[in-house]
Amino acid sequence: MAVIMDGRKLSEEIKEKVKETVKELNRFKIDVGLAVLRVGENPASTQYYRAILRACQSVGITAYKYDLPENSSVNEILNTIKEINRDERINGLLVLFPLPKNINARRVVNEILPEKDIDGLGSISVGRLAADESSFQILKHGQYNMLNELRFMPSVASFLPCTPFGVIRLLDYYNIDLKGKHAVVIGKSLAVGKPLSMMLLAKEATVTVCHKSTKDLAQFTRQADIICSATGVRGLIKADMVKEGAVVVDIGIIVLDDGRIVGDVEFEEVKEKASYITPVPGGVGPLTIAMLLENTVRSARRNEFMKTPFMLE
Ligand SMILES: NC(=O)c1ccc[n+]([C@@H]2O[C@H](COP(=O)([O-])OP(=O)(O)OC[C@H]3O[C@@H](n4cnc5c(N)ncnc54)[C@H](OP(=O)(O)O)[C@@H]3O)[C@@H](O)[C@H]2O)c1
Repeated sequence: MAVIMDGRKLSEEIKEKVKETVKELNRFKIDVGLAVLRVGENPASTQYYRAILRACQSVGITAYKYDLPENSSVNEILNTIKEINRDERINGLLVLFPLPKNINARRVVNEILPEKDIDGLGSISVGRLAADESSFQILKHGQYNMLNELRFMPSVASFLPCTPFGVIRLLDYYNIDLKGKHAVVIGKSLAVGKPLSMMLLAKEATVTVCHKSTKDLAQFTRQADIICSATGVRGLIKADMVKEGAVVVDIGIIVLDDGRIVGDVEFEEVKEKASYITPVPGGVGPLTIAMLLENTVRSARRNEFMKTPFMLE
């Protein structure tokens, strides 16, 4: 029977540290600000939106809400982002997805200044991750202080995408060694699967990435020491696809008609075979918001340090 990896516990610990850092900054009259940009009211992102606002309030981060109508033009969205980029009170900007169908999402995220791209989805942030310039954050996340950050510039000028970074943090929290292990990632989206595969690679795992066109998915998952599934397909990963003692991370979120939330993994049967497993809800989900807050406060410290280097450590 597997150890259940508790994402809520870790996320509370991360949020507690964020709260302390916000307080420390507040003592210097520095406020930490996160902008959340929403276009229209897509029900898929409403719950996430509310959870972010609550989380900001709980750690003392000021949330700036930008609610644009569904029929906004791309120019209106880009102008709003330019305004946020210029606003010194705002340290991070999160654009909620999905955007309306007529809007080019890549054009939108690429308008965000890399210094404020706290979900790491812009091409500069993605490129820095791919070029191993962000590995410092992946490998030493518990150890960076301002002096280290400056030593490793520009690598730390970008932020890592919150959900996959949350997965790495959870694996580290449970002391799961990734070096030389075979990690199979299912899903190759820019927000989750692809950056997660790069982060696992930075940790020196041997990484296989599967997707819709992968033939015989089970053939790959059965070889895996670590399975990370991010598809949104209910029950995709069954016990007979999992090696005895494997670590199973379920990133999928599926909301059922009765309101229950489930993941990609058949939890009850897989937990009997795995050594570690994440539940849904309560696994990776809570970490996404914790990482968003951590990235925002790091952006604030960095920004203030650049203005007044002797103020903070
Ligand atoms: N826990 C969290 O905080 C969090 C955060 C973000 C997302 N999520 C959840 O994670 C899931 C994935 O999110 P996403 O944004 O990455 O979604 P996405 O953009 O829709 O990507 C889904 C990926 O899964 C692959 N896929 C779909 N069906 C598959 C199948 N039958 N076999 C193998 N691969 C398959 C797709 O392959 P192709 O590329 O070939 O189409 C695609 O790469 C969703 O359930 C989402 O709600 C959770």
